[in-house]
Amino acid sequence: MLTLKKIDDVRRSLKIIRERKTCIGFVPTMGALHEGHLELIRRAKRECGFVVVSIFVNPTQFGQGEDFQKYPRSIEEDLDKCRQAGVDLVFNPEREEMYPEHSLTTVQVAKFTDKLCGEFRPGHFTGVTTVVTKLFNIVMPDIAYFGQKDAQQALVIRRMIQDLNFPVELRICPTVRSESGLALSSRNRYLSESELRQAACLYQSLQSAKRLINQGNKDGSAIMQSMRKQIELAGPCQIQYIGIVDMNTFDELAKIDRPVLIALAVRIGPARLIDNIILDSEGNETII
Ligand code: PAJ
Repeated sequence: MLTLKKIDDVRRSLKIIRERKTCIGFVPTMGALHEGHLELIRRAKRECGFVVVSIFVNPTQFGQGEDFQKYPRSIEEDLDKCRQAGVDLVFNPEREEMYPEHSLTTVQVAKFTDKLCGEFRPGHFTGVTTVVTKLFNIVMPDIAYFGQKDAQQALVIRRMIQDLNFPVELRICPTVRSESGLALSSRNRYLSESELRQAACLYQSLQSAKRLINQGNKDGSAIMQSMRKQIELAGPCQIQYIGIVDMNTFDELAKIDRPVLIALAVRIGPARLIDNIILDSEGNETII
C-alpha cells in the first residue's frame, strides 16, 4: 500500500494506473476509521481494480467553536486498517498541502445546504464540496463512495457532480450500525458508556417514526413531536433538529404522501450526532 502526502506524487502514481485502464475507486474520509468507512472501502475493493482512500481532517468544513482541534486522529491505526482491507493508496496530506494559502475559490451548492444540518452549521457544506472537488481533481476517480449516514452530504455531492459535470460515478452505501442501532461515527469516541447507551435513542426514534407511518399516520409534525418526546425521555440532550422532508428538496412535509428522508441531529454530552432513514412510498426503508 502506498501512503502519500503530496498531490504531485498521487497524480504521478495514478496516471500509470489510469493508463492501464484500471477502474479507480475513491473513498474520502477524515480518518478515525470504523466499520462504516471499512464497508465503503470493501465495496470499492469489490468493484474497482485500484482503491484510493483519503484521510484528511478538513478544516474548512468545521465552524468556529466546533470540534476541529479535538477531532479524533489515529493515523497509524487507520493505515493498518486500510492495509488489511487491501487499499492500494492512502492520500494523507498536511493542511498546507491542501490549503497552501488562503483560498479565494469555493464550490457551493445552493438551497439544499440551507436546510437540516446546513441551518446549524453555516458554511459546513461549502467546506465539504470544496474539499471534495479538490480531492476529485487530484484523484480523478471513476467511482466515489459515500455513506448514507451523512445523507444530506451525499445528496449535496450528488447534485454537485451533476451540476458541474464531474466524470465521477457516485455510489451511496447503507449506514453501518452498532448492535444497539447507533450509527457508527468517529464522533462516538467522545461518548461515555452511558452516553453511548443513551445515543441508541436516535435510531429508536427513527424506527418509531417508521412504525407510525406504516400504521397510516401521515401527520409530519405529530410524528416529529413523538420522536422528540422519545429522545428527551432517554436522557439529557439538546435536539438541534428533527426533519421529515422531501428527498429532493429537503422541504418539510406536513403530510407524508411521498418518499421521505427522516433526519435528526442531537447533541448528547460532548458529541453532536446525526442519523437518518429513508422511506419509500410504501413506507419501507430504502437507500438513496
Ligand atoms: P467522514 O465523517 O470520515 O466520513 C467518510 C465517509 O464515510 C462519508 O461518506 C460518510 O458518510 C461515511 N460514513 C461514516 N459513518 C458511516 C456509517 N456508520 N455507515 C456508512 N458510512 C459511513 O464525511 C466526511 O468524512 C467528510 O465530510 C468528507 C466527505 C471526507 C469531506 O471532508
